[in-house]
Amino acid sequence: MAYFEIKDFRKSFGNTEVLRGIDFSMEKGEVVSIIGSSGSGKTTLLRCINLIEQADVGTMTLGGEMLFDGKQGKQKEKDLRYKRMQLGLVFQSFNLFPQYTVLKNVMLAPMLHNKEIAKSKQELRMLNEKSEADARELIEQIGLTEKIDFYPSQLSGGQQQRVAIARALAINPGVLCFDEPTSALDPELTREVLKVILDLKRRGRTMIVVTHEMEFARKVSSKVIFMANGVIEEEGHPEELFENPKSPILKNFLLSSKEGFDGEVDLSK
Ligand SMILES: Nc1ncnc2c1ncn2[C@@H]1O[C@H](COP(=O)(O)OP(=O)(O)OP(=O)(O)O)[C@@H](O)[C@H]1O
Ligand SMILES: [Mg+2]
Repeated sequence: MAYFEIKDFRKSFGNTEVLRGIDFSMEKGEVVSIIGSSGSGKTTLLRCINLIEQADVGTMTLGGEMLFDGKQGKQKEKDLRYKRMQLGLVFQSFNLFPQYTVLKNVMLAPMLHNKEIAKSKQELRMLNEKSEADARELIEQIGLTEKIDFYPSQLSGGQQQRVAIARALAINPGVLCFDEPTSALDPELTREVLKVILDLKRRGRTMIVVTHEMEFARKVSSKVIFMANGVIEEEGHPEELFENPKSPILKNFLLSSKEGFDGEVDLSK
């Protein structure tokens, strides 16, 4: 059985079926990129995976545990909270808490969780100390130790996005998802963020990355999924999919994205 598996995910908004039966699976430590034109359902898929939305139909398992089963109907918020902690999502627009420092942004979710599980004040203090130490380590990992007491408004977009990544990692999710993590950034800052994602791959993090950066998708992922109209139109190894696309829709998509592409992202600097 695969580490992470989605079967027959379907989701409608009103009369529009936005996800029309999505199946895919990945192994631990694998990185999958999702590409596709605007409106094809990429964000909706990530939101359903992260249980921000609930799919109407389908199942999702992680490490053998059933995280979602459409047959059980709408799940209660209380039951979703624990399951959501097994997944992480980094948004295009960072979504940091503006009133908190870098450290507090990264520590917040673990601290709220500690509050729920601690049986005494003393245990809570110990758990929070551990969460703070972990948060400091994550912030060091993304290279922002010197900004640890800064507020989001005092950081560049790339720095904010790196904090958002550290925040998502703080709950140690089984699968970390990114929704176009660099599309709000200029090329210099894009490179900073992509390097952090590459570093996470080296550390064995299982990730799903929705991206418009084709070169990056090619470099980071073992599998690329092309979505069109709510289905997986084509999927495969990046070399195969980019060099030898079979679906006419994918061929068109790759041609038009090449036209808009402003050069390779050089990650070596
Ligand atoms: N909450 C919602 N209510 C109604 N329709 C929605 C909702 N969320 C998404 N949609 C519709 O679902 C379709 C897919 O949207 P989605 O955001 O998943 O696309 P996307 O592939 O992420 O596009 P983009 O590349 O522009 O981010 C769109 O037609 C959108 O209007
Ligand atoms: Mg989107």
